[in-house]
Amino acid sequence: MNEGAAKKEEKPRRFQAIRGTRDLLPPETALWNRVEQTAHEVFATFGFGEIRLPIFEPTDLFARAVGGDTDIVSKEMYTFADPAENYLEYIQRQLRELGHEGYSKFTNENPEKLRQEIHDRSEVMLVSLRPEATASVCRAYIEHGMQQLPQPVKLYYMGPMFRRERPQKGRYRQFYQIGAEVLGGSDAPAIDAEVIEMVMTFFDQLELQGVQLEINSIGDRNCRPKYVELLRAELLKVKDSLGPDSQRRIETNPLRVLDSKVKEEQAIIEKLPRIGDHLCKECAEHYAAVKRELDLRAVKYRENWRLVRGLDYYMRTTFEITAQGLGSQDAVCGGGRYDGLVELLGGPPTKGIGFAIGEDRLILSLQESGKAPVAQGRDVYIAWMGENARATAVRAARELRKAGFSVELPPVEQKFGKALGQADKLGAKYTLILGDNEVTSGEWTLKTLADGTQRKVSEQQLIAELKKM
Ligand code: HAM
Repeated sequence: MNEGAAKKEEKPRRFQAIRGTRDLLPPETALWNRVEQTAHEVFATFGFGEIRLPIFEPTDLFARAVGGDTDIVSKEMYTFADPAENYLEYIQRQLRELGHEGYSKFTNENPEKLRQEIHDRSEVMLVSLRPEATASVCRAYIEHGMQQLPQPVKLYYMGPMFRRERPQKGRYRQFYQIGAEVLGGSDAPAIDAEVIEMVMTFFDQLELQGVQLEINSIGDRNCRPKYVELLRAELLKVKDSLGPDSQRRIETNPLRVLDSKVKEEQAIIEKLPRIGDHLCKECAEHYAAVKRELDLRAVKYRENWRLVRGLDYYMRTTFEITAQGLGSQDAVCGGGRYDGLVELLGGPPTKGIGFAIGEDRLILSLQESGKAPVAQGRDVYIAWMGENARATAVRAARELRKAGFSVELPPVEQKFGKALGQADKLGAKYTLILGDNEVTSGEWTLKTLADGTQRKVSEQQLIAELKKM
């Protein structure tokens, strides 16, 4: 067999979405749009503005902010080397831009600058797809000198995040978050409470079912290290009764042992010292005030001393929200305070608090509780017959669409029966029938599909009639 023939017989490869990623299709995307629209509206009423961030950032940004030992940074990021800009290409561009003379002037007068630029451009940079957006918001706050703006700065974002986790229900490798951050100004407990009130208001608007808020305080630089040491000492005493993950965490991050879902460890963990009993005076007062502020706003919560969160930047207030119908991945929102993060990224001392909602899980929960919209059919199907009717049909479609109706205009003429069948399949509410008679008389036929009734309407009356029905 010659090569050409072999190629012909080869079946083209069928591609599939990569594991952990998925396509979102209509009509489900209508629900996504409604959720996002509600977020825009609710967040605006709390004075938040939208920030749009890059999808990838220097790997170092996440390593610093989220923490090098966290699961997210140590095993879940999609990281790649950004191809270095080509040295030769750079020289050629300089030549083009400066002309030969300018170029030699540039190289002779600024040899050090040239060397530096070439070095900067040819060094391979590691970049990562963002696993979360708080680090980016802080980076942007610093980069744009937002500390000069009236404080606090209140920002929200929505979009895809990437983590190489084991996919399961409610857990994807590309997932979507809707998040908000308050940066700068004070760390007044009313800010913590208002941020939480905002998420709860948003969930309320969406009629999300079974919403439960859990809160905790994990202390600060003063009191947490002492508590962590105490915890480590206590954990070492029971080390042999713990599983391998928890054993490892005694060394790396004892707080994360509190997160453990391993059944055999639960009784042991319940007996461990609790951070609430070891907060310094300032942290204890802050936490008590956050609870008072939540009460003031009639926000219901449950305290959970084991809520420590999986990112390193948190201090004091942490919180998580669960909702109905999600199975084991039931956290639909997580957040907390992160004073000091902006400083850690090279900015001025700045207070910060925020949250991120897992939009995929939010949608899943809404669907499970029957809050998903049903597929929207077309308003009007235009059944046109005969060349004479073509121009009239195009005009009718244009006018109807301008008035906001959803219109299906078949591209080629169809037999009457087939047209009605199509209209039915598309769930159209009305069929506008345009044949020779209608075009000559100017009296169009409008059929209501639900009951099969027909009526005559003039072109001028059509839109007013449809709006009435
Ligand atoms: P996080 O807890 O890592 O926090 O993520 C927040 C939410 O994103 C989770 O509660 C969950 O609903 C959703 N989520 C996380 N991973 C996945 C996944 N693989 N598949 C589907 N959904 C997922 C943060 O990301 C922080 N940046 C939140 C924050 C903002 N804290 C302060 N400001």
